[in-house]
Amino acid sequence: MLFKTDRFGMFIHFGIYSINAWHEQEQMRLNIPKSEYIKNADIFDPYNFNAEEWVLFAKESGAQYICFTTKHHDGFCMWDSKFTDYKITNTPFKRDLLKELADACQRHGIKLELYYSCPDWNYKHSVNNGGSHQLPKPNPGDEPNEALYIQYVKNQITELLTNYGKIYAFFWDIPPVRRDKSVNELVRSLQPHILINDRGYDEGDYSTPERDDSASNFTRLCEACQSVGYQSWGYRKNEDYFTPQSLISSVSKILIKGGNYLLNVGPDSTGKIPQKSAEIFSAVGNWYKKIYNSIVNTKYIKAGDFEYTTKNNSLFLHLPAAFGCSGAVLKPINILPKALTFLNGDEKIDYKVEYTPVDYNGKDNSSHLHLYNIPAEKYIGENMVIQMDFDNIAEVLDLFKNETDDRIL
Ligand code: GLC
Repeated sequence: MLFKTDRFGMFIHFGIYSINAWHEQEQMRLNIPKSEYIKNADIFDPYNFNAEEWVLFAKESGAQYICFTTKHHDGFCMWDSKFTDYKITNTPFKRDLLKELADACQRHGIKLELYYSCPDWNYKHSVNNGGSHQLPKPNPGDEPNEALYIQYVKNQITELLTNYGKIYAFFWDIPPVRRDKSVNELVRSLQPHILINDRGYDEGDYSTPERDDSASNFTRLCEACQSVGYQSWGYRKNEDYFTPQSLISSVSKILIKGGNYLLNVGPDSTGKIPQKSAEIFSAVGNWYKKIYNSIVNTKYIKAGDFEYTTKNNSLFLHLPAAFGCSGAVLKPINILPKALTFLNGDEKIDYKVEYTPVDYNGKDNSSHLHLYNIPAEKYIGENMVIQMDFDNIAEVLDLFKNETDDRIL
């Protein structure tokens, strides 16, 4: 289930902006007149696009779902919409790309989430008055009309939520000028099980921290998003790429607290996911696969110097990438686990309950669980997870409760 067992997804920003390979918002950021920008649609031909390849790549990399940009701020539609001519089936490519993607997702058990931008820089009735992610003023010839625009949006989401199979979540982008509950009501009436994000026509079901992993605790469902590159979500030729390690660290922060994570790639204008983005994405996904059990259906605990998750009789210790030490004293735990497993690899970690001199004031001479031979040197920069199974986890959790400081969440 999305947000329960399916916690890591691949965000895909793909559109005609990939041609200039600069940024998905180039029309606005570079002040390109609509009459110029739309010429990209006449030459858009992602001949290397292969839905099967994208979906299998996502799946092999550990992603359990895909979130796809059906219409970004530029207003260009990546499906065969009856309500506009500004769409993928009117390009040299001709095919309904979303349909192929949705079918491939279905074939391979990958869930689909749809992204749809509220701002629209093309449709003649959309509102562009310099608001958030709106053009500074309407395009020549436009006739802005909020009511007609909402009708257009409703017509389009009806297509998206009727013709493309089961849609698991709906990702609105950039809250519209005016909220209108009837829009999400329509979404829910078409796909009753769907989850809706908080950037649309009402507060929706889940929050969407963007390029921000600092949240300390989630009061509602959460899906954080980030891209493999710093500059752009759409394909960018000279992108500044994050290291897999920095992304793993960010993904870990969100996952252990119960949030979902969408990691974005931007295919190039031929429809290929760039090699570098693919390498980064799979490195993060491979880590996710290894530590998966430690973040699914678990509860987050911060106790003493460490962060844990727990479920059943297991306690998972999450060591941050910067941990950098071959041992750890897990105060206040003084119970020996019956088994201990390192999730990142095959290395064996030794453990004992013993008195250690870490408490320099000499007042605390009690014994604690001490882990040895943590392979920090080998997994340098990678968050490490250690699973500890106890006969009676309740006893361990009780020790956390007795901690006198207030760091226990
Ligand atoms: C921001 C950007 C947009 C991008 C989105 C992804 O809202 O404006 O270009 O698609 O983030 O969450």
